[in-house]
Amino acid sequence: MRQTTLEIDSANLKKNFDLLANQAKGKEILVLLKSDAYGHSHSLISMALDKLPTSSKLHGFGVANVEEGIELRREGIRKPVYVMSGIQHYDEDLDRCLQTCDLIPVISSMRVLKEMAEVIAVSPTNRKVHLKFNTGMNRLGIDLSEISTCIEFLKSNPKIQVDGLMSHLAIGEKRSHPLTKQQEANFTAICKRFEKAGFTANWKHLCNSSGLESSIFPKGNLVRLGLSIYGLGNRNLIPVARWTAQVYQIRELTKGECVGYGATFRAKKKMKMAVLGVGYGDGYRRVFSNKAQVLIRGKRCNVIGNVSMDLTMVDVSHVKDIDTNDRAVLLGQDGKDRITAEELAKIAKTISWEILTGISSRVPRVFV
Ligand SMILES: Cc1ncc(COP(=O)(O)O)c(C=O)c1O
Repeated sequence: MRQTTLEIDSANLKKNFDLLANQAKGKEILVLLKSDAYGHSHSLISMALDKLPTSSKLHGFGVANVEEGIELRREGIRKPVYVMSGIQHYDEDLDRCLQTCDLIPVISSMRVLKEMAEVIAVSPTNRKVHLKFNTGMNRLGIDLSEISTCIEFLKSNPKIQVDGLMSHLAIGEKRSHPLTKQQEANFTAICKRFEKAGFTANWKHLCNSSGLESSIFPKGNLVRLGLSIYGLGNRNLIPVARWTAQVYQIRELTKGECVGYGATFRAKKKMKMAVLGVGYGDGYRRVFSNKAQVLIRGKRCNVIGNVSMDLTMVDVSHVKDIDTNDRAVLLGQDGKDRITAEELAKIAKTISWEILTGISSRVPRVFV
C-alpha cells in the first residue's frame, strides 16, 4: 500500500444509495460526479454505481464541465450525463462535442439559449436540454423576469427540446427559511407556466442532498445528490472514503525538543511521536498544524508541529506497541472512533465539500 491512500468502500456507497433512494420516494437520482466525484474518483464511483441493477433509481450523472463528461464516456459510462454549469458559450465545436459524447447541456441563460438556437438552426436533429432558473440563489439561471421571453423563444425554436426544468437551493437545510420557501414557490410557478405553455418537461428537479433531507419540492421527480451519496450530512449515511497514511518513523522527544518547520511545537515532557507519510501536497492542509487529530490503533493522536508538504508529525505517547507497519486514519473510522470531514472542515474554517475535493491527485484512490 502507498504512503497515503484514499480507500473507497463501494458497499457503503451502495448502502447510501439505497437509503437515499428510499428517502426519495420514487424520484430518480442524479449522482454528482463533478470535481472527481467530490474527490472520491469519478472512475471508481461511476464504476461501482454502474453495476447497480437497472431497476435501481439511478438516473444518471452530473458533471461541471464538458471535459469531465468526456472522461466518463471515455471510461465507458452509458448512463445520461448532464453538464451542470460549464456551458456558458455555445458554438459549433461544443455542439459537435455534446452530440458525439451524448452529453446533455444544462442551459442557464437566455444568451446561451439563443447561441444554441443559432448553432442548431441548420441541423436536421433536435437537441435535448435542461433549463436552469434563478429562483433566488442568484448564482446561475434564467431570471424570473425572463420566463415569458424564454417560453416565446422556445415556441419559435422547436429544435430545442426542453427535457428538464431545474433550479438550485441556497439553503436546502433550512426548510422553513423564507428564501427556501420563496425558491420552492418560484420554481413551482415556473413549472406551471411551462406546462400551461404546452411544454411537458420529463424532469423537474430542485433538490440537492439537504433539499431531499428537508423534503423540499415533493412534486419533483429527480434529485441531484452529491454529499449524501458520499455518506456525509446525515447520521444514517456511511462515509464512503477513508483516508490513511503510513507511519514512517517513530521517535522519542525529550522535554524542550521541538518538532518540524518553524519549531512551532515544543515538548513539555518526554514523549513519543510518529512521522506520517502525508502532507499538504496531498491535501492534508497546513492549517491542521498543531490542531487536527488522527487515529492510530483506534486512539486519537494530536498533530504536532507544522504539516509539511509530504510529512506530518503526531503525538503517539499513549499508543501502545505502535510500529511502522501501522497506518494513521486521517479521515474515517478506526475502531470505535471516527474523524469526519466536518471535523476537519471546522478546523480549516471551511466546509466538508472543500476538504474532500482538496485531497490531491497524488493520493491513490483504491477500492477496499
Ligand atoms: C446544481 C447542483 N445540484 C446539486 C448539487 C449537489 O449538492 P450536494 O453536494 O449538496 O448534494 C450541486 C453541488 O454543488 C450543484 O451545484
